[in-house]
This record gives sequence, C-alpha cells and structure tokens, in this order.
Amino acid sequence: MAYTAVVTGASGYVATEVVKQLLEKGYNVRGTVRSLSKKEKVEHLELLSAALPGKLTLHEADLLKPGSFDEVVKGADYVFHTASPFFTDVEDPMRDLVEPAVHGTQNVLSSVAKSKDTVKRVIQTSSFAAIVKTTAGPQNGKLYDEEDWNNESKPDKDGGYRYSKTEAEKAGWEFSKKEGVSLVCINPTFVLGPVVSKRVDATSIMHFKGFIEGTFTKIMPYQIDVRDIGRAHVRAAELPEAHGRYLTSHASTCSTKTLSDILSKRFPQYKFPEGEDTPSKEIIDNSKVQKELGIKLHDLAETYIDMATTLIQNGIAKPVPK
Ligand SMILES: NC(=O)c1ccc[n+]([C@@H]2O[C@H](COP(=O)([O-])OP(=O)(O)OC[C@H]3O[C@@H](n4cnc5c(N)ncnc54)[C@H](OP(=O)(O)O)[C@@H]3O)[C@@H](O)[C@H]2O)c1
Repeated sequence: MAYTAVVTGASGYVATEVVKQLLEKGYNVRGTVRSLSKKEKVEHLELLSAALPGKLTLHEADLLKPGSFDEVVKGADYVFHTASPFFTDVEDPMRDLVEPAVHGTQNVLSSVAKSKDTVKRVIQTSSFAAIVKTTAGPQNGKLYDEEDWNNESKPDKDGGYRYSKTEAEKAGWEFSKKEGVSLVCINPTFVLGPVVSKRVDATSIMHFKGFIEGTFTKIMPYQIDVRDIGRAHVRAAELPEAHGRYLTSHASTCSTKTLSDILSKRFPQYKFPEGEDTPSKEIIDNSKVQKELGIKLHDLAETYIDMATTLIQNGIAKPVPK
C-alpha cells in the first residue's frame, strides 16, 4: 500500500521538489498551501500530479493558525515540514520571519502529536543558517558539521532569517523529545537547480534570475542542488536508521566568477556578469549525509546549467543577448 506524506508549503521551491520525488515514488501526497485560489502558485503541482504515478491533494493551512494542520496530518505516515518564510529583506523580522517559522513549527508538530498513532517521522527543513557562525566559525576550528549551532544571530534586520531557522529547529527538537516523535532535520546551504514552477518569489530563484539578467551578483557561495535536497528529505523518511541533522551541501565554496564562466560557456549567445574571483574554500564536512543517506551530490556545473535552462525556457529569466 502506498504511504501518505504531508508536505507543508508544497508550492515553494524546495517543497515542490520533495512533492515531485514523492509522486515519482507513488506516494499519496497531501500538500498544504496558504491559499488554493492562487492558481499561479499551485498549477505546477497539478501538472506534476497529472504526469506522475502518485496522487496529490492540496489543502489550505496557515503556519500562524493553531490547529490549521490537524485534519491534513490525520492518518499520514510522514510529515515533511518545509514551509517557512525565506526572505533576506523584511520590514519586521519578528513578525515576518521568526513568528511564522517558530509558531508554524509548533503548530505543525502539535498536529503531529494528535496523530502519533500513524505518523512515523517528521522531516523538518532546517538550514545551514541554524549552523553557521559568521563571527566565531566552526566549533572544531576547521569545518562546519552537524554539531555546530548558530548561537549568535539576533532577530534583527541582518540576522532575522538565521535566527528564525535556529529557533524553529530548536522548537522541532524540543517537541520531538517531549512527545517522543521521530524527527530528522535537513540543513541545506543555498539551494539551486532546476525550477518546476513559474513562481519568481523564492529567494533562490530571485537571486539566480538576477544573476542571469545581470541585475544581482551576490549569490551565496555555499550551495547545493535542489534534487539532492529533495532526495535527502525522502531518504531521511524512508531509512529507519536516519537520525539527527543532515548538513546537506557541497564542501567548498564556489565563486560567482566560476558560475559566470560555466554559464558563458554553455550559453555563448548571452552576456553574464563577470563575477568575483574569490578562491574556493572548504568549509563544510558533508560526510554524514553522503554516508548515511547515500546522497551522491550533483556536480554544480550541472546544477547551474539546469537552473538557467529551466528559467530561460519557462520565460522566467531573460538573459542579455551579446
Ligand atoms: N532555498 C534555499 O536556499 C534554502 C536553504 C536552506 C533552507 N531552506 C528552507 O527551505 C524551506 C523552503 O524554502 P524555499 O527556498 O523553497 O522558499 P519558498 O519557495 O519561498 O517557500 C517557502 C514556503 O513557505 C510557505 N510559507 C511562508 N509563510 C507561510 C505561512 N505563514 N503559512 C503557510 N505557509 C507559509 C510559502 O507559502 P506560499 O506558497 O503560500 O507563499 C512557501 O510555500 C524553508 O524552510 C527554508 O528556510 C531554503
């Protein structure tokens, strides 16, 4: 019998990939979205559902509304909690980032607590933001790993997102301990790779589209392919021995000059920003996710080319002709 999985924030960039991989494997997927009437946010999910073996149903739920997830979680086998605001520039970091991230996690997990008889595991999308310490660096003095916790961000304009992800992950672990529910966290660095929807409001998509169009050049240097993140989520659910956090990333930073060179070679008809030639630096120990979840990372050149190709062919990004 097919398993039933809930994916919160199903229409988002990362969640869409999780939904896609679950549908490919024949799962019954219950995706939550804030509003079913926003067709532009959900139509790509309906198309995926029509094309793949699994079955998808969409349900309205809001992170800030207590009890909002009760019905959708009832009877599910797995809950993938990916919904959380990911913006770097907000008016009020507490209101716009921290509250939905933390209360949202508590709300989703309290719905899980009411369905403990069926839910085998919660997979929470955390972030490298809950790990990285920009001032102190990794605690072992060498590479970041799953033992590192970001204890330096504040809920202000600069650190609001990082703070929101740290506190949301802590809320997840507290809940798991208190309620005895199995939890695994996936901690990605900056996610890039093919885009399925026509949405442009995800930070990953906005930044990469900006680079392609020559209007934005500050792409974060530590990166991971969205397909690897999707796979890490699914494996974290399916492998009974999966446990704790999984820092999911390439080990070394990649410069915007390298990105520019890769795009220029593949798309010689377009002009891309030159980028900055910063040296590549190994900063992350990614051995746990590779060994325990068996994730073989996509080559970043493939990630960049597939992201640019899908953005251009979907009419989302308009690169500058030479
Ligand atoms: N992209 C990255 O580089 C990256 C890296 C590390 C971790 N992450 C994590 O991955 C997850 C997904 O991020 P993403 O990059 O896929 O961004 P995204 O496309 O903007 O997705 C965010 C999702 O959260 C939902 N959401 C936000 N506020 C909500 C609320 N109040 N109630 C219900 N849903 C709400 C959004 O719903 P709507 O569809 O209604 O807008 C959207 O589906 C987040 O937890 C993020 O922190 C992302």
